[in-house]
Amino acid sequence: MKNRDKLIQDISQQEEFPLRFEEWEQKAKEKMEKGAFTYVYHGAGREETYQRNQSAFKKWALIPRMLRDVSQVDMSVQLFGKKYATPFLFAPIGMQKLADEEGELATAKASQAMDIPFIVSTVSSFSIEAITQAAPKGPKWFQLYWSSHNPDLSFSMVERAEKAGYEAIVVTVDTVMAGWRIGDMKSKFSPLSLGFGKGNYIEDPVFINNLKNNNEETILHSILENIQHPALTWENIKQLKQRTNLPILLKGILHPEDAKLALEYEVDGLIVSNHGGRQLDGVIASIDALPEIIKVVEGKIPVLFDSGVRQGVDAVKAMALGAQAVLIGRPYYYGLALHGEKGVRNVMERLLQETEVTLALSGVNQLSDISKIGIRKDR
Ligand code: GLV
Repeated sequence: MKNRDKLIQDISQQEEFPLRFEEWEQKAKEKMEKGAFTYVYHGAGREETYQRNQSAFKKWALIPRMLRDVSQVDMSVQLFGKKYATPFLFAPIGMQKLADEEGELATAKASQAMDIPFIVSTVSSFSIEAITQAAPKGPKWFQLYWSSHNPDLSFSMVERAEKAGYEAIVVTVDTVMAGWRIGDMKSKFSPLSLGFGKGNYIEDPVFINNLKNNNEETILHSILENIQHPALTWENIKQLKQRTNLPILLKGILHPEDAKLALEYEVDGLIVSNHGGRQLDGVIASIDALPEIIKVVEGKIPVLFDSGVRQGVDAVKAMALGAQAVLIGRPYYYGLALHGEKGVRNVMERLLQETEVTLALSGVNQLSDISKIGIRKDR
């Protein structure tokens, strides 16, 4: 941030927007309904992975470069032939009405204003089409939860996304069933059963045609039946590839052998992620899984990073290790919970400003040069 005084002036005029993630989180906790906050906040099991995601970042240290003219820092990235203004994406978080009445529509507007792709969840509160209508020019990707119960429903959602101008399909592969989430069990809160994630289903012709009747109970029961997909295999990915022209990314890859298989199955991109510690507890931090995956992928397809990013410096570390772009999850969700679209934008603007300072001080004036800086893991 070259104009530090202006930044400080901005900040002092916007005291309702916290600066640290922990303050956003605390304020969201105070504002949100208890069950809803618990659902978003907690990790799975004893939250070993949730915590490890954060602590692992601190073990990686940047080794900056000097004397490299950082008066301009170009943070744009190219993904699948498209140029985006920043290396960030909005991670797929479902049921955004839990945070704000405008839910995904607010996030989509922030995404449009900032040219940051929004990965819309299968279980969004609003439909694929309604989100396009709210922000027709915003870059949008679609996150798919495969339906083992009815693959035609998955194909139908992907087709709708393609028609509605979405640019990529992100298949989440680490959530064949929900993780062991004690927080939700204790609060007895199941937002899907309450209808917060039905936006895409009730607009889907395949889903509707397969309902025995269309009362609310039948709809919600059928969503729960379709959302679990323990039978998902690589063959399903192959089928999906035949049904869409959009690039397909797999989200939730941690093992280098799976990255190799993804190349064999001609997947277009990977997202290294442990689902923000919400799925299998006890797994490796995403940042620690990244280097081996980068190694086996050998630059053949883009590798994106997700899980535990709270600050620009975390994102810079992930990119220094080879990630081409970085997903942001809980931080923007808390922004949404507190101040709707404005909150989402504020969280992302500060993140971008901090990322710019971090890159400049690391001697990086364009992201394509990030491999010139060093990064080392302290033992
Ligand atoms: C679903 O993706 C969740 O993390 O709750």
